[in-house]
Formats: sequence, structure tokens, C-alpha cells
Amino acid sequence: MWRLRQVLLLLLSFSLAQTDPLQRQNPCPNGAIPHSRRYMAALLDYQNNRICGGFLVGQQWVMTSARCRNVDMVVLGAHDLKHDGETYRVDKNYPHKDYTFKNNTFSNDIHLLKLQSKVHLNENISILPLPTSSRDLSERTHCTVAGWSPNQEDCPYMLYEANASIYDRRKCQKFYPKIDRGKICAGRQTQSFRQGEMGDPLVCNGVAHGILSYSNPCPPAVYTRIAQYLPWIKKTMAK
Ligand SMILES: *[C@@H]1O[C@H](CO)[C@@H](O)[C@H](O)[C@H]1NC(C)=O
Ligand SMILES: *[C@@H]1O[C@H](CO)[C@@H](O)[C@H](O)[C@H]1NC(C)=O
Ligand SMILES: *[C@@H]1O[C@H](CO)[C@@H](O)[C@H](O)[C@H]1NC(C)=O
Repeated sequence: MWRLRQVLLLLLSFSLAQTDPLQRQNPCPNGAIPHSRRYMAALLDYQNNRICGGFLVGQQWVMTSARCRNVDMVVLGAHDLKHDGETYRVDKNYPHKDYTFKNNTFSNDIHLLKLQSKVHLNENISILPLPTSSRDLSERTHCTVAGWSPNQEDCPYMLYEANASIYDRRKCQKFYPKIDRGKICAGRQTQSFRQGEMGDPLVCNGVAHGILSYSNPCPPAVYTRIAQYLPWIKKTMAK
């Protein structure tokens, strides 16, 4: 009986979704629940162009990809970038000094931004924890990615999210022969999905494990493996 009611409810909500004009107009099928990812940052250059994603890892620190150069401002606490969020100015960019794009390896693709002032943490803004050990995640660990993707049709200003699971490194080398221990691969196993912008976080069990570095049009995508850089992070955030 309980089962039947569930099915009926499901059918009902499905048919409502089919007929409700508001539902039909919703152009953001992967939209995140507003303000459910309070660590997300949108990165802007000095002309106010959005260049990358990032995430808050300390009260005055945002993490992103080293491919995102000269970040001038970050927007925190936003869901709809057109209408909400608080802007903080960047004091200094600290890309990893051994970052290189030579041979398309994008090695050491990690970058910390020190903000000019401490962030006011509130209901829309919080810090994402970093890993505490350098261990690899096991294959198929469940993770999520989020970002504002310019490739999202009709809603490039709305935060979206998606599930992704960890690929074994050796399996990933079939897609990307050059990845090393500083990288981690994750993605949906089946469906093709544009995976957002450089600098977007890969979050597993509530911890930041990856920074989106590069991807083919199809999964998996390659992330910087944050756990490989804990000494560098500690040293840099002491500045
Ligand atoms: C790039 O590849 C060339 C030839 O395979 C190699 O000699 C060179 O050391 C590589 N550079 C880097 C930065 O890995
Ligand atoms: C959090 O976001 C909501 C929705 O955009 C907004 O109404 C509220 O004022 C924000 N809270 C703070 C503390 O900025
Ligand atoms: C992600 O996976 C969870 C279950 O692990 C599921 O409930 C949720 O709907 C999925 N989200 C998306 C956007 O596919």
C-alpha cells in the first residue's frame, strides 16, 4: 500500500511537472539548490569578466586553477550571478610556481588567491574543508561538481551541480596518458556532460578533493589532486 502511494505520488508529481507552465519554463535542469554550496566563488578579471570558478578554503583565501591568471575580484554567496552575491577584491595571486602547460600536462595546476579582507561568513558563505591526508581516493567514490558554466544553455548565471565518481588512475590514463599523482579523474560514467569551468571544485564527502583542470567534451575530466599539495597549501596560506 505504502509502495502504491509512493508510485501514485511520483506519477502525480511527474504529470504536474509536465503541465505546470513554470516547471516547463525551467531552463536549468542541473540547477543547484540555491545557496546549498556556500563555498562557491566566481572569479572576475579587472574588466569584470567572469574567467573561472573557485572556492573558499580559508577566511581570506580562495582556491582555483593556475590556468586562471590575474584574478581581480571574487563573488561569494551567490546563486544567480546576475542578482546576488558579495564581491571581494583580491590582494594577491599565488599560482604554483612549478605550474606548466608544456606538452599539455598542466602540471601543478593549483592557485591560491589572498583576498584584501577577511570574508564575513554567513548563511550564504562558508569555508570548504581541505583533505587532511595525501591518500588517493578509491575508485567510484561518489563526488559532486558545481559551477557557473557559460556552456549551460539559457542559464549561464545560475549555479549548476552534477554527480561525478572517481576513476582509477590507470583507467584514466587510457583517456589522458600524461596524468600523474598530482591529478585525479572524475566524471559520470555514462552520460556526456559539459563539466563547467576551470577552477570548479570536486567535492567528495564534504571535502575539496579536486580543482577542475581540463577535460575532453566527454567524461571523465581531469582535476588537480588537492591532497598532493598539502605542504604547498600550508606554506602559501601562512603568507
Ligand atoms: C615535453 O616533451 C618533450 C619530448 O617528449 C620532452 O623532451 C620534454 O622534457 C617535455 N617537457 C616537459 C615539461 O615535460
Ligand atoms: C542569502 O541569499 C538570499 C537569497 O539570495 C538573500 O535573500 C539573503 O539576504 C542572503 N543573506 C545574506 C546574509 O547575505
Ligand atoms: C546525484 O546522486 C544522488 C544519489 O547518489 C541523487 O539522489 C541525485 O539526484 C543525483 N543528482 C544529480 C544532479 O544527478
